[in-house]
Amino acid sequence: MTADIIDGKAFAATVRARVAARVAELGDNEMVPGLAVILVGDDPASQVYVRNKRKQTIEAGMRSEEVRLGADTSESELLQHIARLNADPTIHGILVQLPLPPQIDTLRVLDAVDPAKDVDGFHVTNVGRLATGQAAMVPCTPLGCLMLLKDRLGSLAGREAVVVGRSNIVGKPMAQLLLRENCTVTVAHSRTRDLAEVCRRAEILVAAVGQPRLVKGDWIRPGATVIDVGINRIEEDGKSRLVGDVDFASAIEVAGAITPVPGGVGPMTIACLLANTLTAYCRLH
Ligand code: GUN
Repeated sequence: MTADIIDGKAFAATVRARVAARVAELGDNEMVPGLAVILVGDDPASQVYVRNKRKQTIEAGMRSEEVRLGADTSESELLQHIARLNADPTIHGILVQLPLPPQIDTLRVLDAVDPAKDVDGFHVTNVGRLATGQAAMVPCTPLGCLMLLKDRLGSLAGREAVVVGRSNIVGKPMAQLLLRENCTVTVAHSRTRDLAEVCRRAEILVAAVGQPRLVKGDWIRPGATVIDVGINRIEEDGKSRLVGDVDFASAIEVAGAITPVPGGVGPMTIACLLANTLTAYCRLH
């Protein structure tokens, strides 16, 4: 048996189309949703992400504001930009692209964003709201993973879920979302003993560790749904390639369904960012 491939690219296009249709319904008299993205420094991967975010924001009929700052920007200068955007009524979503340069305290910056405009869901207020079952802005990548899982499996209640990775951006919020869906959730990480055995329990396996092809086919329970969040650039056979945290070639022989890299989770992240911006707009109006 080979696994079904979960087409995140196609699913993301339907999410974006739904958002664009809602924005179009607002009509000419209304202010359109506005998303501000702040990029500090010149990390090449971040530049690609920010360019794609801007393009897709505009395609959805929203207003895009980009703030580009030099790598030597001070924390107080960045905080001033955030304060200005917090007060700007034409801006409904604010995203600070990570990682930030080392002179800047990332958590302090994230907590300076107005929680109502925090479309990344990284503000401690939104983290707390998600953990306590209140209406929250939810981080885009785990939200995209959850949409793919629910589309594939319907109700997730009672299922064994294993999340590999405990980052604030993906692993922890993913675990919270799966818990909210009544899964039995295990969070595994670099210090987990016998990671392969823990993974073999999973009916739902989410890999978000940033290690190329860490999860092998024989770590996967037959028929499991595998969500690969990893985007790792490697050199192989003299070529540069993008690979996930799951060893796709062996996993596809065992899993019931799997997301590819690229074309799986990646496109869902920006689609969910647009959906969160629309949500923020609706709550602010
Ligand atoms: N860098 C990598 N992933 C993300 C993300 O989801 N949001 C932000 N702001 N930066 C990132």
